Amino acid sequence: MTETPLPIVLVVAVALIDVDGRVLIAKRPEGKKLAGLWEFPGGKVEPGERPEAALIRELREELGIEVSESCLAPFVFASHAYDSFHLLMPLYLCRRWDGVVTAREHAGLAWVRPEKLSDYPMPPADEPLVAWLRDLL
Ligand code: CDP
Repeated sequence: MTETPLPIVLVVAVALIDVDGRVLIAKRPEGKKLAGLWEFPGGKVEPGERPEAALIRELREELGIEVSESCLAPFVFASHAYDSFHLLMPLYLCRRWDGVVTAREHAGLAWVRPEKLSDYPMPPADEPLVAWLRDLL
C-alpha cells in the first residue's frame, strides 16, 4: 500500500534582530495549536502571494510593524513533518522596521540573546533554527 503524501504548508517566519543583537520570539496563544510554545513570528503564505509579501502582511497584522522588502535578508529553510501536513518554513532575517513591536495576536513577546534561545520551548519546526542563529549572530 502506498502512503498518501502529506500536504505541504508554506509558512514564512522572521528573526527580528535588535541593535543589541537580541532576537524576537513570540508565545503562541491559548486556543491555537502548539499553544504556549515560543515561535519565530510569521504565518502562512496565501495562494498566489509572494513569500516576502506574506511576511510583510503578517508582521503588520501580528506585531504592528512595517518592514520593507529590501530589509529582508537571505534565509534558511526549516522543514518538519507534523501529523497532518509537512511544514516548509524559510526564516528571514530583519534588522530594520518602522513602529513599535506589539503583541497583537501572541500571548507574549521576548527579546532573547541567541545563546539563550534554547531556554524557550519551541515548535519542533523552529528548534533547528536556533543553532543556526547562534552560529550566525
Ligand atoms: O497560528 P496558526 O496555527 O493559525 O497558523 P500559522 O501561524 O499560519 O502556522 C501554521 C502552522 O505552522 C502552525 O499551526 C504550526 O503548526 C506551524 N508553525 C510552526 O511550526 N512554527 C512557526 N514559527 C509558525 C508556524
